[in-house]
Amino acid sequence: MSKLQALTNSVTTWVDDRFPVTASWKAHMSEYYAPKNFNFWYYFGSLALLVLVIQIVTGIFLTMNYKPDGSLVPGTNVSVAFTSVEYIMRDVAGGWIIRYMHSTGASMFFVVVYLHMFRGLVYGSYKQPRELIWIFGMLIFLCLMAEAFLGYLLPWGQMSFWGAQVIVNLFASIPVIGPDLSVWIRGDFVVSDATLNRFFALHVIAVPLVLLALVVAHLVALHEVGSNNPDGVEIKKNKDPKTGIPLDGIAMHPYYTIKDIFGVAVFLAIFSYVLFFAPEMGGFFLEHPNFDPADPLKTPSHIAPVWYFTPFYAILRAIPSFLGTQVWGVLGMGGAVVIIAFLPWLDRSPIKSIRYRGTKFKVALVLFLIAFIGLGILGAKPSTDLRTVIAQVFSFIYFGFFIAMPFYTKNDVGSVPVPSRVTETNTQRQLAFMMYVGIAILGSFVFAKLV
Ligand code: HEM
Repeated sequence: MSKLQALTNSVTTWVDDRFPVTASWKAHMSEYYAPKNFNFWYYFGSLALLVLVIQIVTGIFLTMNYKPDGSLVPGTNVSVAFTSVEYIMRDVAGGWIIRYMHSTGASMFFVVVYLHMFRGLVYGSYKQPRELIWIFGMLIFLCLMAEAFLGYLLPWGQMSFWGAQVIVNLFASIPVIGPDLSVWIRGDFVVSDATLNRFFALHVIAVPLVLLALVVAHLVALHEVGSNNPDGVEIKKNKDPKTGIPLDGIAMHPYYTIKDIFGVAVFLAIFSYVLFFAPEMGGFFLEHPNFDPADPLKTPSHIAPVWYFTPFYAILRAIPSFLGTQVWGVLGMGGAVVIIAFLPWLDRSPIKSIRYRGTKFKVALVLFLIAFIGLGILGAKPSTDLRTVIAQVFSFIYFGFFIAMPFYTKNDVGSVPVPSRVTETNTQRQLAFMMYVGIAILGSFVFAKLV
């Protein structure tokens, strides 16, 4: 043993006697056994962690130069907050890349998390015994939406101001407490400097703290029960009698750390492309009206939230006022998010993975996907009579997917039985998957052009 090795060993032993570093590494990495058949869909958990780190690190650097101040720079119509963002973009060394990383990261967070959630839906990852992983995930999703909404006010551009105005006003439609509640949220009768200050406090410290705690809880719950997999087979049911290791399990480290590094490399290539060549992403990642400073006297002609909120915004607009109140749309929008948390109890099928489910679930899932993407497209456009009707049909399908789930999943069994062990990769199935994705992307473009 070399001197260096001996020193490393004694330091490790010293620390281990006082803090369980090696034991934790073993329990969660080198001796944590995950199913050996993880596929493409299993990249997004680690990528969500990566984006979380990107957002926190870039956020810290942005905070060093950003000023949450809605007052006007003397002799101009532009606020200190808006000017500080311009300053970051033009004068702070490396400021532009930090800001674009943060704004691109916000959108990429939702791309990654939506795909991560979709994986859960496809492979029944929310089902027993993983209900709590799903519930923590849903709380993370709520925090993420709050975090994005709060952060969007900070540049104090036209869309920041009017977007916040529209969304906070929605709370005013809640019976009895609504008007007081909206004043309490804003800290004023209109969106103002007081609103900007509290949104800043919540965005930089309160929500991220909760988010981090929830991510830890999400992973602790995951490691307690172990990961699901594309076959929906519980690998803990088939263990080696001698070692107690699942026969279909492989160690998280090095096998999945290497796989995840590959995912990270591909992701960073895409991320960098957006960062360097299309940071505004045609107005989807950074909306064009937000390059104009906030003007409380001039409403933009079309107020639309950022793309990741548009499916829920379309549901809000699709539900008409009734009995003189707008609250139904607000309930519909909130309900559309909350209902996802109930999936573990709405789905009554004993089968987890879509590979072995019956036709009814597959049809329902495709319709749901069409409705969700369709709503997303409609929510980004100004409403017309035709668009409202289509959004109403899609909203009906969206809620129908969840409400009818206990019925259509009850006896819905596929033609291939669930295997007792995980299966090998099937190239034919992967090609079919690529084809479906191609059709879906094409279909979305055609739909977006037609409506
Ligand atoms: C900051 C956001 C999130 C992070 C960092 C995160 C992280 C992770 C990681 C690292 C895994 C294990 C690797 C994998 O299965 O891909 C995982 C699994 C899982 N996550 Fe998340 N997650 C986040 C958000 C969510 C959300 C919003 C949901 C759903 C509402 C969710 C539901 C799940 C489920 C069900 C699993 C287990 C999947 C399986 O075993 O098949 N997660 N998450």
